[in-house]
Amino acid sequence: MRVPIMAANWKMNKTSGETREFIKTFKPLVADVRETEIVIAPPFTSLQAAADLLEGGNIRLAGQDVFYEVSGAYTGEVSPLMLKDAACSYVIVGHSERRQYFGETDETANRKAKAAQDAGLTVIFCIGETLEEREAGNTFDVLKRQTTEGLRGVRADGLVVAYEPVWAIGTGKTASPEQAQEAHRFIRSELVTMYGGAADTIRILYGGSVKPDNISSLMSKEDVDGALVGGASLKVDSFAAIVKYGQET
Ligand code: 13P
Repeated sequence: MRVPIMAANWKMNKTSGETREFIKTFKPLVADVRETEIVIAPPFTSLQAAADLLEGGNIRLAGQDVFYEVSGAYTGEVSPLMLKDAACSYVIVGHSERRQYFGETDETANRKAKAAQDAGLTVIFCIGETLEEREAGNTFDVLKRQTTEGLRGVRADGLVVAYEPVWAIGTGKTASPEQAQEAHRFIRSELVTMYGGAADTIRILYGGSVKPDNISSLMSKEDVDGALVGGASLKVDSFAAIVKYGQET
């Protein structure tokens, strides 16, 4: 059985003070959650504040990006070892915003994923088609390319895939549970080609306008193993409701 993951991607939001405030309120609300892994990816500058409050609890920390070198003259970059040192156990790699605005390619995302795994981080590897690609009927081709190129040499152990259709991110247009399942099933079949039986253990998260009122229907689908949540993870109540989907909060 795959343990679900609910991951918050805060993107470029929250100072360290705001991070502390969020975690102080959020932590007790989810303290009894055992059957779902909870992950928060704050900005790099808030990792320390978050780590101080999360030590020993059931909430894990993630970086939002990472560089593929261990150290050196790479102004502005953060290495996998630095993320480990900042108490991260996960890192998001290849997010569509990195691909769209910061020149991330399948190749750089691939190098980052391998370097992160080498440092002992679990990689949340993001893939997903744009609206033009979907409308042109290229969704599966894009997902196939992003998995085969992006995950070449990446181990199944320490890998989580996030399917985030770009047209659903921050737009309020969630993929329907059926659209999500169709894409997740296709991704799983690609993972079977790459990893054989181990593909069954890889969690595939859905991301794109996930909210408390659509999480249960998404989670009812066989190949949806959790969510990567942007906007709705910035508010304590809505992220807690997503984590505790299907229960009264
Ligand atoms: P939204 O939940 O704001 O659509 O963002 C999704 C996302 O990009 C998570 O990584």
